[in-house]
Amino acid sequence: MSDRFEVTFAPLSADPETVTALLAGEGLELGSKARELDSKSAGSVSKAAAAADFKGKYKTTIEILAPAKLGIDRLIVAGLGKDGALSAQQYVDLGGAILGAIQNRKTSTASLIVDVETSGDHSAEQIAALIGQGALLRHYNFKKYFTKKSGDDSAADKDGIKKLIVHVAHPDKAKAAFHPLKAVANGVNFARDLVNEPANVLGPVELAEKTKALEKLGVEVEILDVKAMEKLGMGSLLCVGQGSARPSRLAVMVWNGAKGSKKQKPVCFVGKGVVFDTGGISIKGAAGMEDMKGDMGGAAAVIGTMYALAERKANVNAVGLVGCVENMPSGNAVRPGDIVKSMSGQTIEVINTDAEGRLVLADVLWYAQETYKPKLVIDLATLTGAIMIALGKEYAGLFASDDKLADELLSASRSTGEKLWRMPLDKAFDKMMDSKNADVKNTGGRWGGAATAAAFLQRFVQKDVPWSHIDLAGTAMDGARNDINQSWGAGWGVRLLDRFVADHYEKSEK
Ligand code: BES
Ligand code: MN
Ligand code: ZN
Repeated sequence: MSDRFEVTFAPLSADPETVTALLAGEGLELGSKARELDSKSAGSVSKAAAAADFKGKYKTTIEILAPAKLGIDRLIVAGLGKDGALSAQQYVDLGGAILGAIQNRKTSTASLIVDVETSGDHSAEQIAALIGQGALLRHYNFKKYFTKKSGDDSAADKDGIKKLIVHVAHPDKAKAAFHPLKAVANGVNFARDLVNEPANVLGPVELAEKTKALEKLGVEVEILDVKAMEKLGMGSLLCVGQGSARPSRLAVMVWNGAKGSKKQKPVCFVGKGVVFDTGGISIKGAAGMEDMKGDMGGAAAVIGTMYALAERKANVNAVGLVGCVENMPSGNAVRPGDIVKSMSGQTIEVINTDAEGRLVLADVLWYAQETYKPKLVIDLATLTGAIMIALGKEYAGLFASDDKLADELLSASRSTGEKLWRMPLDKAFDKMMDSKNADVKNTGGRWGGAATAAAFLQRFVQKDVPWSHIDLAGTAMDGARNDINQSWGAGWGVRLLDRFVADHYEKSEK
């Protein structure tokens, strides 16, 4: 993870640090502590705000240098907008924006005063916690491979901040509210690290081994090697990895967190973990191929989600399964025209070895259903370039066999701001996957590439199992940067799935 940064909570009475941020509502409404600082410094906040035409609009900031008598070098004032109008996610985003403003300053410790007297849905303590989560997410960076240390002007020198102290009326309450939010941020940042890590360091074995970090959180981890997968008949997954010098793995993470009945059927998350996708014999062009280190973004989202659920002790039974392979050309590689047999028994004609993700998922999906009899299955995969043509870098594509499941995911997506757009499953797309030589082929031609990929996957979903497929090729890597993500590997999907579970599968026994 990025170098150490922590968010702590202190009472409003504690002395603020030399870099301090405070909040102002629209119309420049200040809380008690901010009013105190303003009057102590002879109205420096109100004067500076007037001079800068700052009105407290949401996420706008001004910076006041060395206001009189406060012992503060830089006072950042951040706008909250209209009283009570912000959603939880907007507070998280605000936290990101404030940390961004603080990071522009060289300081190792900063204060943020949350003294809002709001009439909205959130208490000051909840707001403090949400802002703290935004700060954790914003702070993430991937600079472990820079050898130059601070003092020079390199990119490695921008993250001097080590601690954000959030001052709030009841720090203990804020700390309690922060605990689950921090767990989710840790899950996101764990996923980001996996996506950013280069493939020479993170091979299929290493990716699978990373799941063992979840054992300390109470997750049961099982890793299947090539032999075990051969025994299960996973000819589809295994053919993808057979060209690589590095063996394939299937990592399974089980979180039995449901209170009461241990037998509650789990929700299953399945991730594509292609640690590097050269395309195989159907090799890709050189331009941009380095990005294919991120072709395990679906697996990272699944691992990060399981991390978050376990750390916050979610009241749910969940299983995460990630197929870890490397797609390489070699004398042993699978060829176009080869026919392989999947664990489901269906034979697959490999038309294009670059359509490898679906071959991996076919067996992992089947294994998940056979082994865990899940309540529902959601797979996440950087599956097609076509989804990026359709939806760009802002939206991931959502395919679902079940409207209720689709709506639950769309609703979670609206809450977290990780945008999803529903795409079609259709018999016509399914037909395009018929092969002349086997039960199914792995590509469906030029048109509707994301939808034919989904149609392929659906052939490996059992009747009556609600299933959804999320194609995050556009968002998992080099997606749109925002207040809470400045990283190439976004950790996209962790907050979404965590919210999906929290809102729909945790509250009560269903
Ligand atoms: N991993 C790629 C999809 C991808 C492309 C993800 C760009 C992120 C950025 C996937 O394995 C792939 O190569 N898909 C092919 C499928 C085609 C051969 C049917 C594609 O989209 O071109
Ligand atoms: Mn590919
Ligand atoms: Zn791929």
